[in-house]
Amino acid sequence: MPTVEIDGRKLEVEDGTTVIQAADRLGIEIPHYCWHPGLPIAGNCRMCLVDIEKSPKLQIACNTRVTDGMAVHTTNEKTRTAQKAVLEFLLINHPIDCPVCDQAGECKLQEYYMDYDRQRSRFPLPAKVHKKKAKPIGPLVMLDQERCVLCSRCVRFVDEVTHTSELAFYERGDHVELDLAPGKVLDNPYSGNVVDICPVGALTSRDFRFRARVWYLERTDSVCGACANGCNVELYHREGRIYRFQPRFNPAVNQYWMCDAGRLSYRDLQGEGRLAQPLVRGESAFVPSAWDAALHATGRRLSELARSHAPGAIGLILSAQSPNEEVYLLRRLAVQLGATVAAISWSPLDAYEDDFLIKADKNPNTQGLVLQGLAPDGAVDALIAAAARGELAALVLHRTDLTAWRDGDAVRAALERVPYLVVLDTDQRESAQFADTVLPIGTYAESDGTFTNQLRRVQRFRAAVPPPDEARPGWKALAELLSVVTGEPAFARAEAVFAALAAESAPFGGLSHESIGGEGRPAGEQSGR
Ligand code: SF4
Ligand code: SF4
Ligand code: FES
Repeated sequence: MPTVEIDGRKLEVEDGTTVIQAADRLGIEIPHYCWHPGLPIAGNCRMCLVDIEKSPKLQIACNTRVTDGMAVHTTNEKTRTAQKAVLEFLLINHPIDCPVCDQAGECKLQEYYMDYDRQRSRFPLPAKVHKKKAKPIGPLVMLDQERCVLCSRCVRFVDEVTHTSELAFYERGDHVELDLAPGKVLDNPYSGNVVDICPVGALTSRDFRFRARVWYLERTDSVCGACANGCNVELYHREGRIYRFQPRFNPAVNQYWMCDAGRLSYRDLQGEGRLAQPLVRGESAFVPSAWDAALHATGRRLSELARSHAPGAIGLILSAQSPNEEVYLLRRLAVQLGATVAAISWSPLDAYEDDFLIKADKNPNTQGLVLQGLAPDGAVDALIAAAARGELAALVLHRTDLTAWRDGDAVRAALERVPYLVVLDTDQRESAQFADTVLPIGTYAESDGTFTNQLRRVQRFRAAVPPPDEARPGWKALAELLSVVTGEPAFARAEAVFAALAAESAPFGGLSHESIGGEGRPAGEQSGR
């Protein structure tokens, strides 16, 4: 294994490691535009030039492999002069757009100019070459050719990752411009990633641009809940509103990428129809209720019905939209009530999938249900049939709009025959119209918890924004309902619920929110299953 010295610090690295990677491991940033760890090396921007002892000329750090005994300088005068010169060159034809550019705050031209350049342009303003501005090139992406530094990251992404080749360079010299390939539009299922990897404001998101300055936004680590792949994401939010999803690197799940459907799925988390406070059926309409009153009335009524009926007279249906913690609490509730539990994992019949990230299962936690012994099967239909026959004393629906997922008329008729229907959901959906009690709960962006993805990797998400108005995180609502039924203290935190799950369920054994960390852990790893 070769040893390299960078800015006086020594490091042993594996054969094949490049200078930029070795420096990164030492915490030394070498400025770069074209290099991206998820793409093949292009070596065209020259921003990463470094001084390597015994080499007559400066070398690019992104495409120079470390050799034993190599000594590299990333901040000496030769390197600084080169960095300054490259930036001056890149900025010759750059428009004076910064005050109105939506990349401000995360633009590598702005940042490197301040860090490595800081000189006045010697190029006369009227002589700048002008190119097309604000050109939509796909449903998600806006192109500003003048801002492009020709790094080719986006071109390599569509050539090497999606293999769709919508983008290419045209013309020569300072007239080179990025554009769509003839007859093409950038609308592949992963098109939004080019916005993330463009180091400057040449490619911006048509969904996000001009909606918020990034320095006002907070970030929270999360997991996309729009399909079973569970891509790791960062939620950007401010004052309770989510503004965008961006992929978060996880080599075991999504590398650096995410799909467009997942990227836009943040909108579904804050739609217009959110349930905002507990509702209890009155004489002719729903009446808003305080949480404590609604929980106590619901818990007591379910307990009474359980006592006065044979086991199985209460049904409980939950969906694979429910995090592991909620599944656990619902199972505990079912044991207390002698209830029959049925799980549903619904996706459209024609749901899109591919051999990269996107899965046909549009639920984030189908495997979490399976690992807790609740494989989605015919039990839901059996419960609906029992309800239709008037055999159920009560039914609890958790994150489940049955009318949308099964034959609507049959389900409506069945729900009408349920004497006591409790619905816990995030949004006002049709099933809730038949309910006696509606408890408003948060989305996964509003709660701590975990999902188990299609590879049975348990992944953690964190509360980014609060639930609207009176709504509560799902685990909290269930923990309190369980407490009313059992008379025992309620779980105070989602971590404690997960700890109880891990203590009783072998696939989750040995795991905790803390040990799952930012990258997730395979279920069954500790227990050997
Ligand atoms: S548009 Fe952005 S990513 Fe594409 S070549 Fe230009 S600067 Fe690079
Ligand atoms: S592939 Fe699935 S989990 Fe990943 S971003 Fe898309 S919808 Fe979300
Ligand atoms: S990052 Fe090395 S040449 Fe562009």
